[in-house]
Amino acid sequence: MELRIRKEVFQTAKEWILEAGKNIRETIDEPLKINTKSNANDLVTQMDQNTEKFFTQKIRSTYPDHYIVSEEGYGDDLESDKGTVWIIDPIDGTMNFVHQKRNFAISIGIYHDGIGEIGFIYDVMNDILYSAEKGEGAFKNGQKIPELKNELVLEESILVINSHWSCENKRVDEKGIQDLVRKVRGTRSYGSAALELAYVAEGVVDGYLTMKLAPWDFAAGMVIVNEVGGLTTKADGQPLDLLNVNTIFSGNKRIHETVTTQYVRLKGE
Ligand code: IPD
Ligand code: CA
Ligand code: CA
Repeated sequence: MELRIRKEVFQTAKEWILEAGKNIRETIDEPLKINTKSNANDLVTQMDQNTEKFFTQKIRSTYPDHYIVSEEGYGDDLESDKGTVWIIDPIDGTMNFVHQKRNFAISIGIYHDGIGEIGFIYDVMNDILYSAEKGEGAFKNGQKIPELKNELVLEESILVINSHWSCENKRVDEKGIQDLVRKVRGTRSYGSAALELAYVAEGVVDGYLTMKLAPWDFAAGMVIVNEVGGLTTKADGQPLDLLNVNTIFSGNKRIHETVTTQYVRLKGE
């Protein structure tokens, strides 16, 4: 993507995200219409849908030649990652949004020909914007985030992992995950993949392991983590597929290598 265009898209997207976030904060106490999607715990509200509509309308009128991949159905049905693609999760952490009214984020990754150019993760209630542009570092409310340290070892690390993956499941050998949980200093689970990736970039956690993320969950986070020298791949170390659901490990390079090669044994791959 041409630098001049990227700068303009970055500024525009940032303004839209701050506006959408302000709107969510101002209406956070209004009654919600809550529906379920694939199962009883897969929630969606009119706020998810309206926020996505807000972005898709803005993008379609300002950048008619850009494509959109998004969670709630207002985007395009893409078969290729060619061109400029906005990958949008209007509210990542809907369960937190509904139950807690906090710990959710707007996540937008902007890719060009499959390459991450821009990433934004907006922690709406705390008014914290994580951002990155390819090759220019990552920022938290405009302050540069330092590069990740690679000397951290597993025994001294905090990993983000949902306890679900240490129970019997279809995707990963739970014994390896149990060994990992015993090995690390501590585990956390915040309920928003986007925020969890932002925390990896910030270095407040050392890695994030999960078995099922959609492109809108990780697109922004991957750009931001890359910019601090971290790695985000499938949980077995293979490159991510931008148009499909993936397993994920994101973290500093040393922990990435150890976890993906020694602890994660995927089933059926
Ligand atoms: C979910 C959250 C959650 C992750 C799920 C995602 P949503 O996104 O990021 O932390 O474990 O896999 O689907 O549905 O709240 O946008
Ligand atoms: Ca999500
Ligand atoms: Ca969502």
